[in-house]
Amino acid sequence: MRCWVVEAITDEGRMVLAECPDPVPGPGELVVRVEAAGVNFADTLMVRGRYQRKPALPFVPGIEVSGEVVAAGPGCARVPGDRVCASVPTGGFAELALVPDAAATVIPAGVPSDAGLVLLGVNYPTAWYALHRRAAIRPGETVLVHAAAGGVGSASVQIALAAGCRVIATAGSPAKLDVCRRLGAEVAVSYADPGWVEAIRAATGGAGADVIVDPVGGRVGVDSLRALTWHGRLLVVGFAGGAAPELPANRLLLKEGTVLGVFWGEVKNRDPGLLREVQDAILALHAEARLDPLIGARLPLEDAPAALAQLAGRQSVGKLLLTPRRRDRRTP
Ligand SMILES: NC(=O)c1ccc[n+]([C@@H]2O[C@H](COP(=O)([O-])OP(=O)(O)OC[C@H]3O[C@@H](n4cnc5c(N)ncnc54)[C@H](OP(=O)(O)O)[C@@H]3O)[C@@H](O)[C@H]2O)c1
Repeated sequence: MRCWVVEAITDEGRMVLAECPDPVPGPGELVVRVEAAGVNFADTLMVRGRYQRKPALPFVPGIEVSGEVVAAGPGCARVPGDRVCASVPTGGFAELALVPDAAATVIPAGVPSDAGLVLLGVNYPTAWYALHRRAAIRPGETVLVHAAAGGVGSASVQIALAAGCRVIATAGSPAKLDVCRRLGAEVAVSYADPGWVEAIRAATGGAGADVIVDPVGGRVGVDSLRALTWHGRLLVVGFAGGAAPELPANRLLLKEGTVLGVFWGEVKNRDPGLLREVQDAILALHAEARLDPLIGARLPLEDAPAALAQLAGRQSVGKLLLTPRRRDRRTP
């Protein structure tokens, strides 16, 4: 099979497209023919050795896949022919991926493998868990989503809307602000504009947002405390801007605000039952046509380095996918 391999950690995140032996499933393991591999911001960091988890070298990047089970080791509940989605520690940017049976979720009939990946993989479960379990959003609340045209951001917009919240979005370019409006954000503001906090206050009658989803961090995270209402909740989701924000405690005191960390990758290890619960809730919303995953591009496996460069360079919208079995197809 072909797969991308990181042989050594370099600043540019160099990887090589290699021919490797097909994986053989051990007990409790599946081999999945990859139809869609999610490209995540975490991948852009992991290939450069800058992610919190550092896989042993050499490794195949890629932390979520969907596709057809082609082999199952002893003791697996899933069987060849099942279509599944799973988060994996590594190994996604490949034609075949080794997947723990316990981590695999069968994609319901009628849901394509690519949409199934986006709904059941990293982005929607992170957004659902953050908004419902950490922030306990209520209908009628105002949710401000940063980087709202991105992967986690677009999922957060849709999940907040489905919960009856009002959504305000930020993004870094006019084209992405249009994407946010099309997703359903009532107001879309550029956080490149130094007056963005005032714009959020103006859009909330001076009060600020009840809940803020922050996958960006840095200055945006710090300034978010000024855009929060009394008793507001700030969800710390990621640091795509490059730095963890050092949050001033005085602003939390003045708002009686709450800062909530979100670490979905760890939560589902600690509480596997919660993964199913969250996925079931997402599938129910999808079945009611209240979620419509935004897939920005489907790229052939060969384009993995270009996909990572797009994501790191703020050129992507929604979810970027590698589609090893469909090398000829490109969509906007
Ligand atoms: N905590 C968790 O459990 C969890 C789970 C999944 C992901 N995450 C984190 O959530 C964040 C978003 O992940 P994603 O995969 O969905 O990516 P993404 O949002 O699709 O892409 C990142 C976006 O961040 C914005 N951004 C702002 N400053 C940036 C900068 N200096 N460089 C690059 N991007 C910048 C860009 O949007 P604009 O161009 O609009 O500014 C960019 O499109 C990442 O930090 C990721 O690690 C956390």
